[in-house]
Amino acid sequence: MSPDPQTSLATAATAATAATTNTIAAKAATPSTLGLDALFNNPVFAGGIGLAGLGAAAAFGRRALISGASLLRRQMLVNVEISKRDPSYPWVLQWLAQPREETGFIAKRLTRMRKLAVSTTTRSINPGGPAGEGRIHADFRVQPGYGRHIIRHKPGVYIAVNREKASTTNTSTGEPHETLTLTLLWPHRHVLGEVFTEAHALATSFQEGKTVVYCARRMEWQPLGKPRLKRKLASVILGEGVKERIVGDVKEFLAAQQWYTDRGVPYRRGYLLYGPPGTGKTSFIQALAGELDYSVAMVNLSEVGITDDLLAQLLTQLPEKSLLLLEDVDAAFQNRRQRDSDGYTGNTVTFSGLLNALDGLAAGEDRIAFLTTNHIDRLDPALIRPGRVDMMMRIGEATRYQAAEMWRRYYGDIDKDGRGCKRFLESLEELGLFGQSKDPNVPARHTSTAAIQGLFQFNKGDMEGAINMAEGLIPREFGPELPSGAMKSPA
Ligand SMILES: Nc1ncnc2c1ncn2[C@@H]1O[C@H](COP(=O)(O)OP(=O)(O)O)[C@@H](O)[C@H]1O
Ligand SMILES: [Mg+2]
Repeated sequence: MSPDPQTSLATAATAATAATTNTIAAKAATPSTLGLDALFNNPVFAGGIGLAGLGAAAAFGRRALISGASLLRRQMLVNVEISKRDPSYPWVLQWLAQPREETGFIAKRLTRMRKLAVSTTTRSINPGGPAGEGRIHADFRVQPGYGRHIIRHKPGVYIAVNREKASTTNTSTGEPHETLTLTLLWPHRHVLGEVFTEAHALATSFQEGKTVVYCARRMEWQPLGKPRLKRKLASVILGEGVKERIVGDVKEFLAAQQWYTDRGVPYRRGYLLYGPPGTGKTSFIQALAGELDYSVAMVNLSEVGITDDLLAQLLTQLPEKSLLLLEDVDAAFQNRRQRDSDGYTGNTVTFSGLLNALDGLAAGEDRIAFLTTNHIDRLDPALIRPGRVDMMMRIGEATRYQAAEMWRRYYGDIDKDGRGCKRFLESLEELGLFGQSKDPNVPARHTSTAAIQGLFQFNKGDMEGAINMAEGLIPREFGPELPSGAMKSPA
């Protein structure tokens, strides 16, 4: 379809030199009024025409090639765009950076990743400890950098990757949007399912035996540090039968999803754990999440900056398979203030904001919520309603049973005959720490499981030390010279 430049040039030259030998040339010899023949017989002019034709042909060819290529791309390739907002984004990124088996010479050069980005998390080792003082452990994970890459997924299956930063930004966090585009040949499209499954499995393998704790950061849930080792349920010692009742109820709820769906009831359950600080409320919820293989999504309502709107937004995007933990819910009741006429609710959560979050429109469909408070007396009975709070449980001061169980966990291996445990419990009783006292000079009082844990940790492997220091479990009372309200520990 495109005229061959060589042929056209040659034709022009022949026409110019041997004009008289054929009929066309004979015709051309008759002088035309416009002198066109003379013009065409001019080798320079004819050559120019040839060149112009050549240029046009090249342009046409190029356009045809481009449209052909884009047609081919449309017909032959599959594109998948993953936005940074999608939970699979970090998984796929991690999966892409995985080391892949050695390939042939060409494939190796084609798929070599030249642009990498690093994501680092740090944690201090044994903070304050004598050996590791000030040491920080850094964990580096390499990811594909911005730009285009090609990876070889399997023999013969290549995936082109384009990681791009968009010019738009996330309005709530101020971070630029990012997308990851995977391109595959149409016949290989079924591989995509594999890619996502593998990426997800890889991400969960990093979290095996760990519990992820999410926190509200910049209007979004973000993992709080690295996933932490699961806490064993057995390590949290609550009053006799308390743990079993809650765990049993949660498991029953998890098994009853169909029941809720069939009846059109929102699949939600709420638990309220109340009692003094340091009794194991937060630890228990974390351990329960580990037991269920769930993560924890935590918001502290007494934190400044947690507003009704933020809470509502967070609840609509709860991480999957997570226990919602609302700490210090009493904070919402100190702000009974409703919205001002201008819609401003202040910088903390209000009572109505909390109720809306629990069972209003913003509340997610599937949800298990744990609410904690140190001040049950500040709560409103409206909170205790099915769907908001279905089960209330007091997690109280340390009982004799708990003290004994904790002793067994710490000294069980060295206190085989249980004599140490008996002496420890007697000494706590003498100090009136189980809420009653035989000696009129000793007031009846209580201690917390957190305090017992502190005592046992201080006396690691030293039973006598723990027994001798039992007095340290007496709750400290601060004199009036201390400014009141200067300290606040979360629930
Ligand atoms: N019942 C308990 N069993 C085991 N450890 C406990 C218990 N209560 C408190 N602790 C320990 O005390 C610390 C504070 O407990 P935490 O769960 O934060 O208490 P709360 O949330 O009730 O204020 C944690 O290190 C935890 O391990
Ligand atoms: Mg707590």
